[in-house]
Amino acid sequence: MTVNQRPSEASSLSIEDLVFRYKKADSPAVDTISLSAEAGQMLTLLGPSGCGKTTTLRMVAGLLSPTSGRIKVDERDVTATPVHKRNMGMVFQNYALFPHLTVGQNVSFGLEMKRFPKGERVSHIRLALERVGLEGYIERPTTALSGGQQQRVALARALVIEPSILLLDEPLSNLDATLRASLRDEIRSLQKRTGTTALFVTHDQQEALAVSDRIAVMNAGQVEQVGTPEDIFNRPSTRFVASFIGQANVLDGEIARATDRTAFVNIPGLGELGGRYDTTSGVPAVGEPATVAIHPHRMTLHPADQKERGAAQVISSVFTGTTVQTTLNLAGRTLRIESLTSASSSAPVSEEWVRLEAKPDDAWVISS
Ligand SMILES: Nc1ncnc2c1ncn2[C@@H]1O[C@H](COP(=O)(O)OP(=O)(O)O)[C@@H](O)[C@H]1O
Ligand SMILES: [Mg+2]
Repeated sequence: MTVNQRPSEASSLSIEDLVFRYKKADSPAVDTISLSAEAGQMLTLLGPSGCGKTTTLRMVAGLLSPTSGRIKVDERDVTATPVHKRNMGMVFQNYALFPHLTVGQNVSFGLEMKRFPKGERVSHIRLALERVGLEGYIERPTTALSGGQQQRVALARALVIEPSILLLDEPLSNLDATLRASLRDEIRSLQKRTGTTALFVTHDQQEALAVSDRIAVMNAGQVEQVGTPEDIFNRPSTRFVASFIGQANVLDGEIARATDRTAFVNIPGLGELGGRYDTTSGVPAVGEPATVAIHPHRMTLHPADQKERGAAQVISSVFTGTTVQTTLNLAGRTLRIESLTSASSSAPVSEEWVRLEAKPDDAWVISS
């Protein structure tokens, strides 16, 4: 076995009915969540600010003691295990490095906490720095580094202890957009290469889709859906997930008819819109309330007459080079459409009337 690959040592994580209530808070910050990550997987907690992601991560780390529920690593209950005995590696948004220490001393910190034999530290520190692309930086002062480099040091410090679980709380939020995307891809490839099980926290859906094996979408302390990035994006199980991911258009109506594959929803002011649905819960009944979710790039626009049923009016259209982003008013609702540009076609013009089209295979119906 090489030092770079140790998937056989990776741990599984499971969280069972976890609850956390801050003192004096009206409602729990984390309200009965259950999740699991298989050994070597990257599980992401995704949700808006304040939904309970950090609180959950801190409980897994051992920095907060749950109000109730259990945390297990490799089926072993660690709920009462103190933080320094959990063997978790942590990376935070603000790097949390010691400014008066060198890069090497910062990385060494994790090993010192574990009382790792002094003579063997340097080789492990060098390996960790090499993994994050900072070989040769061991003697540098931490303050001489850019934000991206500082976050790599934090990553090396977390990985040097060969953690059972790597915990990352918004690790890219302090970086500029270009660096964010490249470090994001590096973290993912490093996590895969080392076979480390990871819990990644972010409010950025694009980031979550790009790095995760599985995503848990959180809202108000609860988990709304757990699935692969494709599940979450293409088959949202709730209205919240649909509108949070990929800025999908969500249109409410009621079931007009349904086959064993497609449900047609009557949308007031638009007419019938068909989409696939979750067939495991049976064929939806006619008249039942339902929501259709369609991503902006999966709808097309066609010229229409104002008097036509379902005609929508263009509010604005923005040319971004690759796409045109059009905002529409459809009977008082605002919809977003994204179309690929071509050299010959022109963008829709404000106040123009258009008709929307979407293939049923590209839309998703959520029974409400
Ligand atoms: N130390 C604290 N004391 C009281 N309430 C807190 C504390 N930290 C967080 N909260 C509240 O708990 C909820 C979840 O917070 P947090 O886990 O930090 O969310 P996220 O990381 O998803 O933004 C929020 O409503 C937040 O205001
Ligand atoms: Mg947070």
